Amino acid sequence: MTRRLPLVLTLFVGLAALAAQAADRDSGEHQYVGARKCKSCHGKELMGDQYGAWLKDPHHRAFETLKNEHSLAIAKEKGLAEPPHQSDACLSCHVTAYGVPATRIAHELDPADGVQCESCHGPGRDYRKKKVMSDREQALAKGLWDVGEDPAICTGCHNPESPTFDPERYTLPDGSHAGFDFAQASERIAHPIPEHVKGRYLELEEERKQARDAAER
Ligand code: HEC
Ligand code: HEC
Ligand code: HEC
Ligand code: HEC
Repeated sequence: MTRRLPLVLTLFVGLAALAAQAADRDSGEHQYVGARKCKSCHGKELMGDQYGAWLKDPHHRAFETLKNEHSLAIAKEKGLAEPPHQSDACLSCHVTAYGVPATRIAHELDPADGVQCESCHGPGRDYRKKKVMSDREQALAKGLWDVGEDPAICTGCHNPESPTFDPERYTLPDGSHAGFDFAQASERIAHPIPEHVKGRYLELEEERKQARDAAER
């Protein structure tokens, strides 16, 4: 008992800290713009084409999934009144910014885009400018979430409230199982900025532009 108490305490403090973090994460002052607005820069090959990676990601098809046989079967079993793709019970985790007031949506989000960038990176209207984005501190101050340090962003949806949650989906390094593992799950949807570009995009873009101009002259 005496040895267990500190663990319980640590866990409690940890959870309280996570809850506090979750509360400041979405301050409510920034607006959503939708993945297509991220594409102008994050669809570029030099950047590593995160937009293209997301098009192939399960999150992009999350809305379409709600129309398949499996979803209809779940809806029937639950006795849902509406079809799953129109039901609060499903949409809350299968699209971005569900239930967020219209005043916080700068550009209409297409539900067909499923779970978009901003579900994980935060509402982007104020951080999406090149100069802001290139300065991590500024971007965080303008609404970017530090998703690499915040697994609670994922477990907001990847939790037992999901009708398909499987507590054994992930095998951990020690051989035990978990319904979600942040490290492995992040790896499955990885869309990094190439190593040699990270932190240098604007500089490299400028170099390319000058090389193009020189070639044209
Ligand atoms: C807004 C809700 C939401 C958030 C936030 C979210 N996901 Fe998901 N995720 C989903 C849905 C819905 C699916 C299933 C999509 C489908 O197959 O149609 C999914 C599927 C996945 C899958 C494939 C299934 C699996 O578990 O292997 C991975 C991997 C994944 N998500 C990783 C992540 C990671 C990592 C994060 C956080 C950085 C995250 N997700 C945040 C809703 C979310
Ligand atoms: C709490 C968030 C949440 C809710 C609510 C939710 N889902 Fe999901 N859904 C997910 C996540 C996360 C995944 C990825 C697999 C997993 O961990 O369950 C997923 C995956 C799925 C899949 C794909 C599973 C597969 O691999 O074949 C289907 C189908 C699905 N959901 C249907 C539904 C339906 C229908 C509803 C409403 C009755 C619903 N979901 C409500 C989060 C949610
Ligand atoms: C389901 C959650 C999720 C979605 C959806 C998502 N990302 Fe990410 N993204 C992550 C995670 C997790 C990381 C890795 C942690 C980190 O670098 O902060 C990441 C990393 C990144 C990085 C930084 C890569 C690096 O090397 O530093 C960029 C840029 C990025 N995402 C852009 C996007 C864009 C643009 C979209 C939409 C087209 C998108 N992401 C959709 C979760 C997501
Ligand atoms: C006008 C261009 C532009 C737009 C639009 C844009 N970004 Fe970025 N983004 C950048 C640049 C430039 C960087 C920094 C690249 C570098 O040098 O590492 C960046 C970096 C990032 C990073 C990594 C931040 C870090 O420090 O780890 C994420 C995540 C990201 N962007 C997400 C998004 C999302 C989500 C959207 C849409 C809401 C978006 N961006 C829209 C240009 C843009």
